[in-house]
Amino acid sequence: MSSIRRIPAASLRTGMYLHKIGGSWLSHPFLRNSFLLVNPEDVRRIVEAGIDSVWIDESRGDPLQDVEAIGEAPYANATDAGTGRPDLPETGASATATAALRARAPAGDVPLEAELARARDICLAGKAQVEEMFAELRLGKTVSQESVLPLVDEIAASVWRNPAALISVARLKTHDDYSYLHSVAVSALMLALARQLKLDERLVRIAGIGGLMHDLGKAFMPLEILNKPGRLTDEEFEVMKQHSGAGAQALQDGGCEADVVDIVLHHHERMDGRGYPHGLREDEISLLARMGAVCDVYDAVTSVRPYKRPWDPAMAMREMARWDGHFDTRVFNAFVKSVGIYPVGSLVRLASERLAVILEPGVDSLLKPTVRAFYSIRSREKILPQTIDLAAGDCRDSIVSPESPEQWGLGNLEALWL
Ligand SMILES: [Fe+2]
Repeated sequence: MSSIRRIPAASLRTGMYLHKIGGSWLSHPFLRNSFLLVNPEDVRRIVEAGIDSVWIDESRGDPLQDVEAIGEAPYANATDAGTGRPDLPETGASATATAALRARAPAGDVPLEAELARARDICLAGKAQVEEMFAELRLGKTVSQESVLPLVDEIAASVWRNPAALISVARLKTHDDYSYLHSVAVSALMLALARQLKLDERLVRIAGIGGLMHDLGKAFMPLEILNKPGRLTDEEFEVMKQHSGAGAQALQDGGCEADVVDIVLHHHERMDGRGYPHGLREDEISLLARMGAVCDVYDAVTSVRPYKRPWDPAMAMREMARWDGHFDTRVFNAFVKSVGIYPVGSLVRLASERLAVILEPGVDSLLKPTVRAFYSIRSREKILPQTIDLAAGDCRDSIVSPESPEQWGLGNLEALWL
């Protein structure tokens, strides 16, 4: 008779051997599927993650197990998670979990409109959780990467359904929620980019976690500098530069994986060695940290800041492509593919002498998204909005260039696509 039995998660007890948790590895807060439950906290987290039932292996569990006597910790394999290089072999529970994730809904199969409401909810929840992590760090507590897994799961699920929704919503920040929503945005961008680079699923997840936690070191920066409503002086900037090291130290203290700590420590390094904190060059910077640099800058320049208007997303793509020595070209090109040359919400000029905002990225061509034309350049006035699929066989229109909403005196383009 099989020793594997399915039981309600509520019936789990320490001493049972967890054989399998239902759903994908992104759905539960653990780094592996199979382990001996020795910590009541783990039982609580399984129930709180909303998992209904689990499989236990009765031949391997010990209901009378003395918790203190167990040598094997549940996270024993958590720190050998890799080096930031893609295509590492997967074994055991990791491979099972990866297969489960791949079996999930294919990417981008939900229309933007249908995903926007969920994306907004995830942003709100994410903002609250990042804010809480900031508060805990300021109180001298530690934060663990396991605590953010359910949120990273939510962000990943939204990005897989439609990457443009959460990425676009998280770009719309106010001064007050900048730091928190920036973390959610960078997590979403990292997940989309990691998938574009075809990283294995473990590294995809690490990218999402690292994106969410990359700026936690700002919790240790003086509030008068962090909240300064203007450009920082050179001295203040020198202080702010310490946030990556401070964050990395805090996450290391909290037991985070080396790859996550690496993203936090090195997301401000540049390929030409002019970044900080270590002035690393090219291959000295891990792939995950190079990805972090691109995603961090893109969200920062396209977000509203107290001292500058945001760049239009398509303008940001064009400008960032010109920054010599800053980014890894291969990573940046993949990033453009993952977000689109003309990201949702961008302003563009059409061959028909109209201004339009991007509604949906093109399915087959990055150059042929669906747009909403709303402004006549000839008459210099708003027109009745018209939705145009530039990839449609009978469409004669096309994009001429990205445009700056500021130059055209246009505010609140969001009303056209949100
Ligand atoms: Fe940063």
